[in-house]
Amino acid sequence: MSATHMKNSSARQNWTPGSWRSFPIRQVPTYPDPAAVEAVEERLRRYPPLVFAGEARRLKSHLAQAARGGAFVLQGGACAESFSEFTADIVRDTFRVLLQMAVVLTFGAKVPVIKLGRMAGQYAKPRSSDTETRDGVTLPSYRGDNINGAAFTAESRVPDPLRMETGYFQSAGTMNLLRAFAGGGYANLHEVHRWNLGFVERSAMAQRYGLLAERIGETLDFMAACGLTTASTPQLDETEFYTSHEALLLGYEQAMTRIDSTSGEWYDCSAHFVWIGDRTRQPDGAHVEFLRGVRNPIGIKVGPTTTIEDLERLLDILNPTDEAGRISLISRMGATKVRDHLPQLLRKVQGTGRTVTWLCDPMHGNTSSTTNGVKTRSFDAILAEVKGFFDVFEAEGGFPGGVHFEMTGQNVTECIGGAQCLTEDDLGERYETFCDPRLNAEQSLEMAFRLAEELKTRKHHVPGGEK
Ligand code: TRP
Ligand code: MN
Repeated sequence: MSATHMKNSSARQNWTPGSWRSFPIRQVPTYPDPAAVEAVEERLRRYPPLVFAGEARRLKSHLAQAARGGAFVLQGGACAESFSEFTADIVRDTFRVLLQMAVVLTFGAKVPVIKLGRMAGQYAKPRSSDTETRDGVTLPSYRGDNINGAAFTAESRVPDPLRMETGYFQSAGTMNLLRAFAGGGYANLHEVHRWNLGFVERSAMAQRYGLLAERIGETLDFMAACGLTTASTPQLDETEFYTSHEALLLGYEQAMTRIDSTSGEWYDCSAHFVWIGDRTRQPDGAHVEFLRGVRNPIGIKVGPTTTIEDLERLLDILNPTDEAGRISLISRMGATKVRDHLPQLLRKVQGTGRTVTWLCDPMHGNTSSTTNGVKTRSFDAILAEVKGFFDVFEAEGGFPGGVHFEMTGQNVTECIGGAQCLTEDDLGERYETFCDPRLNAEQSLEMAFRLAEELKTRKHHVPGGEK
């Protein structure tokens, strides 16, 4: 244990859900009426939790398995959810593509896949600047639907605390649907062929998926003939689906934080898994202070500017007992940097003997601008970063624990490349994101096939974990 850690733990003894308020904080909105904020937070504190502590603990044990190579994490969803796109179809389509990807990975790589939606609460966004200027007019930046409106008007950009309450209810509605889908028959493996989305049906990916669905169907028939049916094996007709978002808007997260009656410990009940972003991971900052006291599994984004000193301090503060599954390090280096930056960090973390689950976010280090100034990402760069990530683990030892995608079930045109060969010229067609460019349904499915091939040939994973 380092000297800094001793100092930190003594200086930080009294954690409470609100102790972050006396730490320096970044990326917070300035609300015009603090009393109105307090009133909303007071109501939120009394509302039912969105997830239960026992579920978060179960996810944590799955993540511990992924750290040992016995499972693979598929984390995905929109960069930012929006209040206006809150419909059953949009939730279903994202869920359905995640299921397709999961089935492709499970069948291809022969490992259990942990399904973790970046949804049901992903409403708050960190920004590089507090203000945005267009045509000489400067307004506060859009910080996500939980905080203010995206429209470029003075009125819409004023932070409104009532948006936290809307965010809560929309998260609850989304979560309700996800729970119904995951446990109510929609995720039944006998339905695999029906998850092919309408517009994807005619495509190359749909055909490839159709063939896979046939093989799974045959496998299930064979197993049924052997006496393994959904009646005897309930795992066949349901799945576990978990939720996650960035823990950015701490007032909201604090209001959702509750004591678990079973363990007597605090959990942030806004989602099963919450992560801390690249812009708010200062070891002495408010976000780290908040996350230190909740027992959820948590993620830390790790970029090219993350130093090993900071990372060690973060691990000391956030996981002093080295509990497996507690910390996922989400590497977001960029395709050209992952091979240069990740090995040292990985080696150093392994040198400390700590257990972490390593995930690859191949989206955030690969954002570029077209000649017209449109933000995009290329399928090839995204794939290249994941391959680089796998290569690093192959060379250094250890297990790549999973992947993190910004994706959608809609047929958008935001990332270029993939089997549809989307080009910069196609981006204008259906560019719908409120924030970063997402893989569309077909690109997401293709990515899953490519990853499954990689995992299969590399044989990184061991059924049941490291032996
Ligand atoms: N219960 C298993 C799992 O979640 C098998 C399964 C059921 C499944 N439905 C699924 C796997 C949908 C992937 C996608 O892994
Ligand atoms: Mn993003």
